[in-house]
Amino acid sequence: MPHIVVKSYKEFTSPVKSDGYEFLWFAKEFKNAKDTLVAVRFEEHQFLLAIKPKDEHYIIKGDKITRIAPTYILKGALKHFCELADCEILYDNLSSIKPIHVDKAKSFLKEIDYFIEHFPTKKEVWIEIGFGSGRHLLYQAKNNPDIQFIGIEIHKPSIEQLLKQIALQDIHNLLVIDYDARLFLEFVPSNIVGKIFVHFPVPWDKKPHRRVISKKFIQEAERALKPDGVLELRTDSRAYFDYALELFLEREKSKLEVTKNIEPPVSSKYEDRWVRLGKDIYDIRMYALQESPPLELNFDFTFSKISSLERFIKNFDIKPKVFDDYFVHFEKLYMIEDGKFLAEVSFGSFDRPTHLYLILSEGSAQYYPKKPIASQANIKAHKKIEEFLNV
Ligand SMILES: C[S@@+](CC[C@H](N)C(=O)[O-])C[C@H]1O[C@@H](n2cnc3c(N)ncnc32)[C@H](O)[C@@H]1O
Repeated sequence: MPHIVVKSYKEFTSPVKSDGYEFLWFAKEFKNAKDTLVAVRFEEHQFLLAIKPKDEHYIIKGDKITRIAPTYILKGALKHFCELADCEILYDNLSSIKPIHVDKAKSFLKEIDYFIEHFPTKKEVWIEIGFGSGRHLLYQAKNNPDIQFIGIEIHKPSIEQLLKQIALQDIHNLLVIDYDARLFLEFVPSNIVGKIFVHFPVPWDKKPHRRVISKKFIQEAERALKPDGVLELRTDSRAYFDYALELFLEREKSKLEVTKNIEPPVSSKYEDRWVRLGKDIYDIRMYALQESPPLELNFDFTFSKISSLERFIKNFDIKPKVFDDYFVHFEKLYMIEDGKFLAEVSFGSFDRPTHLYLILSEGSAQYYPKKPIASQANIKAHKKIEEFLNV
């Protein structure tokens, strides 16, 4: 990561603009004034520089929460900041960081924001969860060119491997996301998915709450599937099969198909291993029975009122507040100027927490640098944050 180590720097009057970079304000850690953050705007990007004391020096780098890409933007911000702040530079690594070659394969890898804003809906969608080596997903994508495929994985080497294969095999109907599948389905529009494959999910026998298949997952899958669309679970674990079957049967109405040791059109790496060991392989297919109501993702994360800022600042409590299926954790407080604060906060789901800042002043609060994504856990956490700001 680009950084500069300085012996000293001088705070300058903000806002100030230098070659497209606007340095908007400084925020100092409240009470112990150890770390300082500097707000920067460059074109449509907003982010923070972090200045941290280190031995007798300071290290200046990009703040992790507001991480900015591509790296050249951060390099420019550090360089211009040091010119304005008259830094006495001891060391920097800016020239050793080469511009990153934008790999063609990377264009198939999308962030969650892409799916929230432009979910591909023109073609029928098929989703594979935990694609691993990608053998099954690549086979399906090649054999069904009129279907839009989405592969979800959390294991980075598997994602890299799949991206390479997509480019090598010149596949154009497959998008990939590095995201927890338990949360992804929340953002899939209703009634557009023909198939969801969950093949050989990790059984998590000792931590069942980590299993991909859950009551909520089944509900979201049923909503995303078009009528007669199918969620296909394939597993070598009898315990997982029993657990999932019970959950599927908890639905008031269900159309299920159970098969055992049926050969698939293509065998995955895991499947090969289990078959070699003589294990039984179980499938459950759950069919969606009806049209579902449309997905609503239009939650507006604006705070309507802030009545207790003084009390909130005075009692700033860094203990995480844990609720049923979400949490709120105020982590650090900074002061921008008298009566204006910046609070670092993480919140939302335990599996994929959101990390952001809140800019707080009497009567107003807003997220920085952007609003959270409208997951159900974030919506609940937002309402709780509003409560904390008004007690
Ligand atoms: C046992 S492997 C099976 C891989 C592949 N489906 C196959 O049959 O060869 C399970 C895969 O699911 C992925 N995985 C586990 N939990 C996940 C989650 N919550 N979201 C997305 N992928 C997950 C793992 O990284 C792993 O690659």
